[in-house]
Amino acid sequence: MVPHKSILFSGILLFLFVFTEVAAAQLTVYSGRNRALVEPLVNRFEAETGINVRIRYGGTTQLAVAIMEEGRRSPADIFWSQDAGALGALHANSSLMKLPENLADNLPPQFTNPDYTWIATSGRARVLAYDVNRTDVTALPESIFDLTKPEWRGKVGWAPSNASFQSFVTAMRATEGDERTREWLRQMKANGAVAYNNNNSILQAIEAGEVLVGLTNHYYIDRAKSANPNYVISSHSFEAGDVGNLINVAGLGILSSSNRQAEALKFIEFMLQDFAQQFFMNEVFEYPVKIDLGESDRMLEGMLEITPDINLDALRDLDETLRMLRQTDLL
Ligand SMILES: [Fe+2]
Repeated sequence: MVPHKSILFSGILLFLFVFTEVAAAQLTVYSGRNRALVEPLVNRFEAETGINVRIRYGGTTQLAVAIMEEGRRSPADIFWSQDAGALGALHANSSLMKLPENLADNLPPQFTNPDYTWIATSGRARVLAYDVNRTDVTALPESIFDLTKPEWRGKVGWAPSNASFQSFVTAMRATEGDERTREWLRQMKANGAVAYNNNNSILQAIEAGEVLVGLTNHYYIDRAKSANPNYVISSHSFEAGDVGNLINVAGLGILSSSNRQAEALKFIEFMLQDFAQQFFMNEVFEYPVKIDLGESDRMLEGMLEITPDINLDALRDLDETLRMLRQTDLL
């Protein structure tokens, strides 16, 4: 019996639809990085590779928790984290696959974890911001621990509720221990450190003369400088190895439950290419993760020489940091 024409036609359509679904490779990315930093590169990735990418945007911590809750059934192939802590949490949960050793040449060890289950796409450094007209660089402290001294009383701005600050405190706990970190927080508070809501407010407070220096991320200053060549605020780094020079990263991991790992690897390789690296530098003034990008090399190499020696997986222990900040009345 001959099927009705329209049934035959929709049958063909259904066949084509199913066939196309199977044929077109597809990746699902959970992204804690915001759309403006992800979409332009993903569009280019799709155009160049023919691989379709579905992106779920959200808060970095929220998405990491979602992946853990979804377990082996998670639709995510890739996690793009805003910070190393959430990658460390997924690593500890065995959610990430080990990456091939040859994935990135010239990648400094700071930009991956020792087990090689995630890889950084860009970095940002903690710095001490100061007004070049009001503070001579020689007067600036060698260690972040010096900021508790009487000479800095009431002169330091910080942002205890800010995620980057909290990651830094977690790093201090990892390198100096809980005891010393809690003591530093207490002494900073006792020394009149002024709390601001975010990094931009800290810089505005320095400009306004409310405080003399502030603990912030480097790119806020670089961004303001690029918009205004006469910008009076500059970055100071502490002595080599000081935890105040922490580099935190945004980075990528592939879920061990993914059955599209080959495509996911292509995605990571793509985000490590020069144009993608330059995009992060140009759009948000972050550091690239490779040292063969010309002009930025010296800056990045200088930063890598002074950054503390720390396994960034340790940044996952945010809960205890939040508890400590509440204990010390900073949250
Ligand atoms: Fe930020």
